[in-house]
Amino acid sequence: MGGGGGGRGVWFGVAAGCAAAACVIAAALVSRRVKSHRRWQRAAELVAEFEEGCATSVGRLKQVVDAMVVEMHAGLASDGGSKLKMLLTYVDSLPDGSEEGIFYALDLGGTNFRVLQVQLGGKGSNILKQKVERQPIPQELMISTCEKMFGFIASKLKQFVEREEGLQEGSHKTRALGFTFSFPVRQNSVSSGVLIKWTKGFDIEDIAEKDIVECLQEALTKEGLSMQVAVLVNDTVGTLALGHYHDQDTVAAVIIGTGTNACYVERPDAIIKYQGLLTNYGGMVINMEWGNFWTSHLPRTSYDIDLDEDSPNPTDQGFEKLISGMYLGEITRRVLSRVAVESEVFGDVSDKLSQPFALSTPLMATMHEDDSADLREVKRIFEQILQIPDIPLKTRRLVVKVCDIVTRRAARLVASGIVGILKKIGRDGSAPSTSGHLRAQSKRSVVAVEGGLYEGYALFRDYVDEAIVEILGEELAQNIFLKSTADGSGTGAALLAAAHLSNRKGYI
Ligand code: BGC
Repeated sequence: MGGGGGGRGVWFGVAAGCAAAACVIAAALVSRRVKSHRRWQRAAELVAEFEEGCATSVGRLKQVVDAMVVEMHAGLASDGGSKLKMLLTYVDSLPDGSEEGIFYALDLGGTNFRVLQVQLGGKGSNILKQKVERQPIPQELMISTCEKMFGFIASKLKQFVEREEGLQEGSHKTRALGFTFSFPVRQNSVSSGVLIKWTKGFDIEDIAEKDIVECLQEALTKEGLSMQVAVLVNDTVGTLALGHYHDQDTVAAVIIGTGTNACYVERPDAIIKYQGLLTNYGGMVINMEWGNFWTSHLPRTSYDIDLDEDSPNPTDQGFEKLISGMYLGEITRRVLSRVAVESEVFGDVSDKLSQPFALSTPLMATMHEDDSADLREVKRIFEQILQIPDIPLKTRRLVVKVCDIVTRRAARLVASGIVGILKKIGRDGSAPSTSGHLRAQSKRSVVAVEGGLYEGYALFRDYVDEAIVEILGEELAQNIFLKSTADGSGTGAALLAAAHLSNRKGYI
């Protein structure tokens, strides 16, 4: 018995030891699960908070529409009357297809710089031939000097012209050039103007007070180029011109690229701040500079506030910072970075995720549009770009969710901006007809749209369309057409140079 009792004691001892070990393992598992649950809870909480902060109910979008209209009126009433600058462009005739000849254009202001040659065949024929060359703008030029920047542009144009025209006779003729300069410019004619402020990361100090066309013309002369800068236009205006060339119901243009902006055709009597000076004009294109639009109705989160404070232009370009390609990737990165720090759902995080602008908007869009079952593009981008390997599928889904929140807000705000413009010019169908009914049968209105964010991002486009229908209703939205014009701003500048030289007045 004694021996048997001792054996039982050992057995009990082993059993008790095993049970204790099992308890420890179970406790460890439970604790790991609890921790993991907490991590998820925190991550989900942060994303839910962000989503709430970005909410764009139809009610809120309509408030943004109305605020846009109010600010447009204020900006037209006086300079400085609104954050919307509502700049005069002196463009009062838009191309209609009758333009003829060979024209050049330069397009500066986004991520890429473009040089173009456009051959126009005159009435009845379309654009006969078009050559475009684009290249990224070297980062250091964006913060260099006027001489370097315009010297670079002129030398690229010279190489292009030599390649296109070679030793042909035509190369000795003076050619007309349209210059798309996609920044806010105070113009005093269609071919002169002074920069108001740099945007989109450009910062060349010695441009202040200088006439941009003179700077370019000087650089062209230094290169020995025989070119006359016929028009200086914002990219929105170039886009409107190309839109109008193809479809004369085009009343406005919007850019959604690195930056964002819009322009539209206004009646001169509505431009109160210049009344009396515009008597010869039938209509004029107004460069709204809507990137600087602001209203308290815009949904803004702590991430947006931090991004703004860290930017080179705090409190400026508020609308742009919620919408454009320069910022969407960065907003996403900021949210993910906080989620990573506070929840550890990404595991050990590299420094990369905390680096400003480490996640570009095109990469964010790629993750958002990843439709593979295991979200392998998200995995790849995290591994290769952000140096965070093996994030679990659940976490990848969370990443896509954040991209969706950022993009959806941006696209819906663009939609309200567009409806705001249409409302201002009485094209949203909301004005009562003489019979007192809303004008569901109102005119067809086309808005030309350009910019990588719109052209290359199907989900973004879908969200814009969806929101326009939500704001206006199916019936009224049927009269509104958004038409994409790839490379439109450059081509449009060439067309405007042609239209301007043909001296047609008051066409719009
Ligand atoms: C500029 C506008 C420009 C827009 C789109 C903004 O940052 O201020 O002039 O039209 O970007 O390129």
